[in-house]
Amino acid sequence: MSVTIAPSILSANFARLADELATVQSAGATTIHVDVMDGHFVPNLTLGPIIVQGVRQMTALPLDVHLMVTNPDHLIEPFVKAGADHLTVHVEAVDHLDRTLSLIRSFGKGVGVALNPATPVSAIEPVLGIVDLVLVMTVNPGFGGQRFIGYTTEKIRTLRHMIDSAGHRCAIQVDGGINLETLDAPVSAGAEILVAGAAIFCQADPARCVRELLEKASALSYHSRYS
Ligand code: DX5
Ligand code: ZN
Repeated sequence: MSVTIAPSILSANFARLADELATVQSAGATTIHVDVMDGHFVPNLTLGPIIVQGVRQMTALPLDVHLMVTNPDHLIEPFVKAGADHLTVHVEAVDHLDRTLSLIRSFGKGVGVALNPATPVSAIEPVLGIVDLVLVMTVNPGFGGQRFIGYTTEKIRTLRHMIDSAGHRCAIQVDGGINLETLDAPVSAGAEILVAGAAIFCQADPARCVRELLEKASALSYHSRYS
């Protein structure tokens, strides 16, 4: 199972975002993670479709938009029009999960569902067959640079088993506190897409950080018993 790195622009320098994006792409990043926070579902405000439209013009990499937004249905189309390739919503933030996931699918975009650290994986088990990605939050969402929460590893292991044993094809993404010291546990448990913000953009040499994260994760990567 190959592991990929999705740099989160939350910790990037927005004054030179185009350069930051080019740097992480040349180092091997294959997706850009965009954190949308509404000041309601999470205690922070970040960016909307207008900024995503700008980011879209700065990079050809797929934009993975993580919506930390209460009832985001009305924002799906604006983010699609702005250039999002993949949209992830939180199970805790929507009233009708199936309806929201189907809405994203109706635009032909990648469909993701996210879980906060304290939300059990059973909450999303019914939709594993209709999503492309499950995002296991490894910090409480809202801010970059937080500390990885260790008990989430067991959730990743459980989810990996659920997905593989049922023959589903969705990927497991982890987000929050991922760095060279913490990635071992989630990758060994079966995570395939590692979001990293501070571990890349708050460092002196972001390109080197991407390469090191990729190298270490690839060496550890999980081998399924089922495939
Ligand atoms: C947190 C966001 C993350 C965040 C990760 O709510 O969803 O994507 O940017 O940042 P780090 O890697 O710094 O924890
Ligand atoms: Zn995120």
